[in-house]
Formats: sequence, C-alpha cells, structure tokens
Amino acid sequence: MSGQHFHEAGLLAQARRAQAGAYAPYSQLRVGCALLAANGQVFTGANVENAAYPAAICAERVALPAAVTAGVRELVALAVVGDGPGPCTPCGVCRQVLFEFAPDLVILAAGSDGALTRYVLGRDLLPDGFGPTRLAAAHGNR
Ligand code: THU
Repeated sequence: MSGQHFHEAGLLAQARRAQAGAYAPYSQLRVGCALLAANGQVFTGANVENAAYPAAICAERVALPAAVTAGVRELVALAVVGDGPGPCTPCGVCRQVLFEFAPDLVILAAGSDGALTRYVLGRDLLPDGFGPTRLAAAHGNR
C-alpha cells in the first residue's frame, strides 16, 4: 500500500487500541497512536510516564522510533487519540521528530468524544519547520 489513500477509521481504531497500553498515572491523560507506513505496516505507541516527570515519553515517540528502527521511513499518516474532549494534537517535540521523516504526514487527531481534526504536519502543525534540508543547505557538498 502506498500513497495518500488509507482507511481513516481503521487507523483511528488502532490508535484507540494502543491507548489501552498507556502508562499515565501522573497526568491521567492516556494517549495512543497508530503510524501508517507507505508499505502498509502500522506502528503503534502509547505514552509511558515516569516518577521523574520529564522522563515521560509521548505515544508518538514510541511509535516513530519503532518504525525507523524496523527500517521503515516512508510514512503516510498518524492517528492520535487522547482522553478528553476535542482533538489531541502532537506536542512540539513530537512534531519535530516526525518532521524529520515525514513533513507531508497526514495527522488525524482525535479525542474521546469522537472529535476528529485532520492536519498535514508541515503545512498545519510545523510550518517552516527546521529539517534535514536546512543542514544540507548550510553545509553544501562538503
Ligand atoms: N502526550 C503524548 O503522549 N503525546 C502528545 O502529543 C501530547 C502529550 C502525553 C505525554 C504525557 O504522558 C501526557 O500526555 C501529558 O502530557
């Protein structure tokens, strides 16, 4: 499978299933996500918190490194689901981490009330983002 066509409801359902794996005793905000690769593989993640609060890791930064370390870098869409009403959008750090591999990533952000908002990462959530092309521009051919 490749390109922009995918089953939104199916990816959201996988994000909701992944949410059940969250460990969020401190914030009580469980987040789950499902990251669809161009080859059809789906990598899921959930947030894992820590008694040392800043050591918490977001759902997106569980799923993305799983894809990359499996050798999968071509990414199509990400569904994110969080507790509470309204869409749960990726934090700034996660936007940056995703932008490295997929500036055109479609992001479906959902809440527990069924709210759903669609974004394109580099257009809507991280415009003029800093990415690998900037380093290439700075360093030229050396
Ligand atoms: N969280 C995520 O997992 N993804 C996001 O994009 C936003 C925040 C988690 C991290 C933390 O465990 C909890 O939400 C509260 O910040």
